[in-house]
Amino acid sequence: MKKENFYITTPIYYVNDKPHIGHAYTTILADVLARYHRLINVPTWFLTGTDEHGQKVQRAAEAAGMSPKQQADETVVRFRELWQKLEITNDDFIRTTEPRHQEVVRKILQDLYDRDEIYRAEFEGWYCVTCERFYTEKDLVDGNCPEPGCGRPVERITEPNYFFRMSKYQQWLIDYIEANPKFIQPDFRRNETLGFLRKELTDLCISRPKSRMGWGIELPFDADFVTYVWFDALVNYISAAGYLSDDDRFNSLWPASYHLIGKDILTTHTVYWPTMLKAMNVPMPETIFAHGWWLIGRDKMSKTAGNVVNPMEFVDKHGVDPFRYFLITEMSLGQDASFTEEAFIRRYNTDLANDLGNMLSRVTKLIGSYFDGKIPAPQEEGEAEAKLRDTTLKAAEELVASVDRMRPDQGLNGMAAVVREANRYMEVRQPWTLAKSDDTRADAGMVLYYAAEALRIVSGMLYPVMPGKMTELRRALGLPDGDPVFADLHEWGRLEPGTPIQKMKILFPRIQVPKVKEAAPEEEKAKPKQKEAPVGIVQIEYADFAKLSLRTARVLEAEKVEGADKLLRLQIDLGDEQRQIVAGIALHYEPDALVGMNIVVVANLKPACIRKIESNGMLLAATSGDQLRLITVDGDMPLGSSVG
Ligand code: ME8
Ligand code: MG
Repeated sequence: MKKENFYITTPIYYVNDKPHIGHAYTTILADVLARYHRLINVPTWFLTGTDEHGQKVQRAAEAAGMSPKQQADETVVRFRELWQKLEITNDDFIRTTEPRHQEVVRKILQDLYDRDEIYRAEFEGWYCVTCERFYTEKDLVDGNCPEPGCGRPVERITEPNYFFRMSKYQQWLIDYIEANPKFIQPDFRRNETLGFLRKELTDLCISRPKSRMGWGIELPFDADFVTYVWFDALVNYISAAGYLSDDDRFNSLWPASYHLIGKDILTTHTVYWPTMLKAMNVPMPETIFAHGWWLIGRDKMSKTAGNVVNPMEFVDKHGVDPFRYFLITEMSLGQDASFTEEAFIRRYNTDLANDLGNMLSRVTKLIGSYFDGKIPAPQEEGEAEAKLRDTTLKAAEELVASVDRMRPDQGLNGMAAVVREANRYMEVRQPWTLAKSDDTRADAGMVLYYAAEALRIVSGMLYPVMPGKMTELRRALGLPDGDPVFADLHEWGRLEPGTPIQKMKILFPRIQVPKVKEAAPEEEKAKPKQKEAPVGIVQIEYADFAKLSLRTARVLEAEKVEGADKLLRLQIDLGDEQRQIVAGIALHYEPDALVGMNIVVVANLKPACIRKIESNGMLLAATSGDQLRLITVDGDMPLGSSVG
């Protein structure tokens, strides 16, 4: 049941601190998806905003010596400024302190209370006075407060609170999730939620007594309490869409197509939110999609580690479009990804400066020198031309499909491959040589026309990711400003011969990487001579190497081997068969991070039994000291391809 509109949301971010790269990522991803849908003429609505109530914000305000509202008012500006800088095209921005939101939350609470979906009861638990938090028995560490850095004794406290009858929807939710595989994505996240639902679900405490924490929306039926921050925040997705305030608008927007979230907030979105909606008799959103973490190198980003990347500074240094391109191409949606400036520079220099930027300079320079700065006319196409045309049009289609299945990274990598192909085509056809002689100048025109056409389609397809740079590129080709016409991107030959092209400066100047310090002369001498095999490693004949069957494979499933902290059991797909292998990589990879990875395996290793589990093959990894990283395949290759 595909709706005819596209309503996408990001989490609303806490205003306890300024935005970081994780916030930037989710919002850029939502923006890219929204822009693609607008490009294909699907009515689109893109919502983001800020989560301004609750203890986190109150604490931050206290630390900064201001009121929570002041804290929110100051921090929200940082988010708005960043979204502007990042070219985010959200249609609405909701703050939970706005009356339009608070009124809806109150109406919902009153209605649920009137219908006995919310009840009052004594709440018993362990309370830490310092942390002002309740814990259950099993939260405690040695009977004390579990908060890192606290560990103080806790008190048994009983206080009245209000509860939402979440438990009564447990079976309904399990059935709903099972009947609607698209509801929670990726699949392994759905399984995570179903795992959580195997335990008995309790009712949800949705109030906080003002005496302990007063920064929130007052309960309409008891002025001594405010609403628990999550019960308030989740409602933003419907309050902003007009729920209980503008029925027409709400009916035209809801259900949301996607709630994009990070994996940190899966339970609140896939357990609290659906049961809340069910109690309100509101239809479910179509898909809740949880992406993975950006790690900084291989570490979790945290203030204590001091490795928080400030997107504002990064963009000032390297530009907004390359930053957007990197984030979208580098993360396989669902999995964790690693952010480093080196990785950014590598991708920038390869895909953008070398391949795309160079291609544009070459084409425009040659058209400038030999064709009077006007798009030359195509001639009857040969085999090489037909191939470039087909590859480009196919990649454009594939990009659309990849956006549909939430893998824009794959589609974008396909576009990068088109640019490489087009550069190769130029190398083969050598238009700079053809142009020099009168006899072959028309052929040179043909080559340049085809190369420019490939660029036109690539630029339109990359436009949602790099709107600024692609506008410049399109201008250089003499194309009009403004959003590309989507239908034109699926048609070859839209460039009008004779159209003047524009001179432009280099689109993606290469980033110079400081050279690694030269080895000192002593070290130089100590190094083994280049051509000799290092001592202790025998040289082999090619025939020895050929005995190995190295093949590409994709990881389908990964799980820890019980009782062996280093081992993972993997199910892999070799294209023509599936196999199980056991690998000693558990200290280096989370099982979830491996699923979907394209790896290389020794396919003809004799089967072995490791911890009573059969292992059929061995994967390849690079190791150094206690570091280990898997060998993976760069780009799309059929599974089971031979490696050598
Ligand atoms: O959780 N990598 O707000 P929040 C990728 N207010 N994404 C990351 C990330 C990382 N390292 N760190 C954060 C809240 N994010 C609640 C949400 S919604 C009704 C209420 C992103 O400020 C990711 O989208 O802690 C994550 O879900 C979100 O920021 C959490 O932002
Ligand atoms: Mg958080």
